[in-house]
Amino acid sequence: MAAIVVPVEEFDLVVFGGTGDLSRRKLLPGLFHRFAAGQAPSGALIIGAARAALDRAGFRRFAREALEEFVAPEYRPEEKVAAFLEMLDYQQIDAEGEGGWPALGRKLKGRDGRPRAFYLSVAPQIFGPICSRLGKARLVTPLTRVVVEKPLGRDLASARALNDQLAATFDEHQIYRIDHYLGKETVQNLMALRFANALFEPLWNAHHIDHVQITAAETVGVGARGGYYDKNGAVRDMVQNHLLQLLCLTAMEPPSHFDPDAVRDEKLKVLKALRPIDGAAVDTEIVRGQYSAGPDGPSYREEAGDPQSGTECFIAIKIGVDNWRWAGTPFYIRSGKRLKARHTEIAIRFRDAPHSIFGDAAGALRGNVLVITLQPNEGIELRLNIKEPGPGGMRIVSAPLDMSFGAAVGAGFRMPDAYERLLMDVIRGDQTLFMRGDEVEAAWAWIDPIIAAFEKGRAAPCPYQPGGEGPMESHILLHRDGRRWREIA
Ligand code: BG6
Repeated sequence: MAAIVVPVEEFDLVVFGGTGDLSRRKLLPGLFHRFAAGQAPSGALIIGAARAALDRAGFRRFAREALEEFVAPEYRPEEKVAAFLEMLDYQQIDAEGEGGWPALGRKLKGRDGRPRAFYLSVAPQIFGPICSRLGKARLVTPLTRVVVEKPLGRDLASARALNDQLAATFDEHQIYRIDHYLGKETVQNLMALRFANALFEPLWNAHHIDHVQITAAETVGVGARGGYYDKNGAVRDMVQNHLLQLLCLTAMEPPSHFDPDAVRDEKLKVLKALRPIDGAAVDTEIVRGQYSAGPDGPSYREEAGDPQSGTECFIAIKIGVDNWRWAGTPFYIRSGKRLKARHTEIAIRFRDAPHSIFGDAAGALRGNVLVITLQPNEGIELRLNIKEPGPGGMRIVSAPLDMSFGAAVGAGFRMPDAYERLLMDVIRGDQTLFMRGDEVEAAWAWIDPIIAAFEKGRAAPCPYQPGGEGPMESHILLHRDGRRWREIA
């Protein structure tokens, strides 16, 4: 299977925060890969805009170093690197003052017929000031888009305020809110699996599915981000955005078309159907945790710089989706730092066969499981019950029908990073994999009472050993329902 590259048209992209960490790790390497693959044309103009007193040559040096650090040598032949750097320019700018804006205007002059994107890789407090300056400087053309990403608010009120600030300059169809999980290849494959195959959809409901597990486990701790992270916790950092998006894509009704509003309308309905968790229910439906010190590093509280911190870096939640399709099928989600392995998956556990014709000696017939692995080894696995091979009688064992995407597309295929896909979608003007303002608000509306309960001391974080599967209480959450988490491996 070979990947087909569909080139995008020539575009102008201005990255505010162009000398920042996201630009260095993801945006410049991502744009380079798309250029090297022949998707981003050499006529594109990419302008880094930031406070640093750099010139074009300085920004190109910065970009070269970023490519050397984040693009493997076999993917960056010198002639491609040199040609890519030619597309880069730089503008020193004061996002909240007047400096640099006229010069940016001159760089974009006479280019109104091309798609233009402003990527705001800056603190959300300056989204508003930048947008209004873009408007005042008349840099917003009909083909202009603005790209923003989390944190899109800390709660419903601040998310609404941010949406209002963006809306003062841009129409909703020009706003691209990134959740990088939506750009992951397997997430898109979840939609292909559900809606391009007639096989699963008839079974995709509470009659046939016992429960769903969504796990995003990381081995890293909060490290140097500790101080910042401690103000947010896993609920804001992972649940409000990434995990709820995965839940929505798993639970949503089939959209009538694969187009932005059809898909986002369906996701919104799921968010609105999430059973509220508040007050005392927070203690029974949610488990929070903090890693203790271990051989690989200090405890969460030490890294957070607060010996009394009540913020979680592990969370597990049992979520009900109150609609006809899902009534009676819980969604269990969990995410944590410093766990046993880096592994993200969605596991659909089907109901047990209603009756075994094979008798007790054959062993239990365990429900089939469909596992969609997002990382590190993207793929889909369906666990089926088969006869144990050999002449020893009829014994039933569970075995995987396994499709690794790496193997399916062939050796040498590099799985594109989420940002590559999302950046090209911005240029193509396709919002399907971006969040709409009302989705972000609906997610916060569900999260707000949970955070309010945490602030009153509900579901206080339990300590857990690093390198494991989180606190024991997380296992108890499922045991109570006669279920168990899949092993994090
Ligand atoms: C980010 C969170 O959004 O996602 C991080 O802020 C987290 O805390 C990261 O580590 C995980 O992303 P990925 O793509 O590595 O799963």
